[in-house]
Amino acid sequence: MEIRKIGVIGAGQMGNGIAHVAALAGIDVSLHDISEDRIKSGLATINGNMSRQLSKNLISEEERQNALLRIGGAPKVDDLADCDLVIEAATENEQVKVKIFQSVCPVLRPDAILATNTSSISITRLASTTDRPERFIGIHFMNPVPVMQLV
Ligand SMILES: NC(=O)c1ccc[n+]([C@@H]2O[C@H](COP(=O)([O-])OP(=O)(O)OC[C@H]3O[C@@H](n4cnc5c(N)ncnc54)[C@H](O)[C@@H]3O)[C@@H](O)[C@H]2O)c1
Repeated sequence: MEIRKIGVIGAGQMGNGIAHVAALAGIDVSLHDISEDRIKSGLATINGNMSRQLSKNLISEEERQNALLRIGGAPKVDDLADCDLVIEAATENEQVKVKIFQSVCPVLRPDAILATNTSSISITRLASTTDRPERFIGIHFMNPVPVMQLV
């Protein structure tokens, strides 16, 4: 299965970093959070961090512009319907994450993969709250995501 488009839930420290590296890798990204303001703030952070990478010659202006064009805000979970992979990077609270999975699962294609960036919550327990435990994975990115190569 080819991953062409991902959804990222949570536009905070980790979520905007995940959106950043995915877009630079050529993947389309839909960035979701609880409000348009949080999405805007995440997009602004990505813009600033890519500008810093440009000033250090880590990326070119063309790469920066192309990556920014690949990231769109997704104010509603419904906006994640066409994603091949959705990575949940919301607040580290089990109830919050379970509610997110309950709202996003009905929207996703049956073959879409759902992932969590949780630091400490059982992946098996989280998977069991979804409609796709066999297509649910933990992907733990390191902070700051655009700097750390380890996943
Ligand atoms: N910060 C780290 O060093 C680090 C490292 C590895 C993994 N993690 C994990 O990554 C996840 C995110 O951590 P963070 O540091 O980015 O937190 P953060 O507080 O910076 O961002 C969390 C974001 O989730 C959003 N959110 C909360 N409820 C939501 C909902 N119902 N729907 C959509 N968005 C929602 C918040 O508005 C916020 O923007 C956590 O599970 C954390 O344990 C964090």
